Amino acid sequence: MLFPLGVWACSQRVLPVVTQVDAVYLQTYDKAFPDSNRIAKGRELYLRKCGKCHYLYPPSEYPVSEWYEQVGEMATRSHLSAKDSAFIVMYLRAVIALDSLMIDAGDTPAGQGAD
Ligand code: HEC
Repeated sequence: MLFPLGVWACSQRVLPVVTQVDAVYLQTYDKAFPDSNRIAKGRELYLRKCGKCHYLYPPSEYPVSEWYEQVGEMATRSHLSAKDSAFIVMYLRAVIALDSLMIDAGDTPAGQGAD
């Protein structure tokens, strides 16, 4: 409980930042993706509101569907409005989506680079 490890993409513990370029990239896959300002707001709220009682859970800890539930359950404890909860989910969802769009080094046959 105190040290949530989960399936962190890399073992570095840095809460990912979603840049404007990342957000535009996500929008090429799904036009409904929020812009980077809203995602950044979600990250800020996640840091401010969700790390008070326990360490932050990595976004990759749960699938998006479960994050909806977890954030919903924790919203009461964190005194979060529905709007702010939605920003947090936007952030978590963007990180998970970016991660799922990357191939692992192991996916590329040896000797075949990207170009
Ligand atoms: C006021 C304290 C408090 C705040 C603020 C808080 N949590 Fe929690 N959280 C807990 C406690 C206590 C648990 C232990 C499990 C339980 O009681 O449900 C927990 C457990 C969790 C779990 C693990 C649940 C499980 O099934 O193992 C997740 C994920 C989580 N919190 C996410 C969040 C998120 C996201 C936020 C911000 C929206 C947040 N928490 C804010 C107290 C808090």
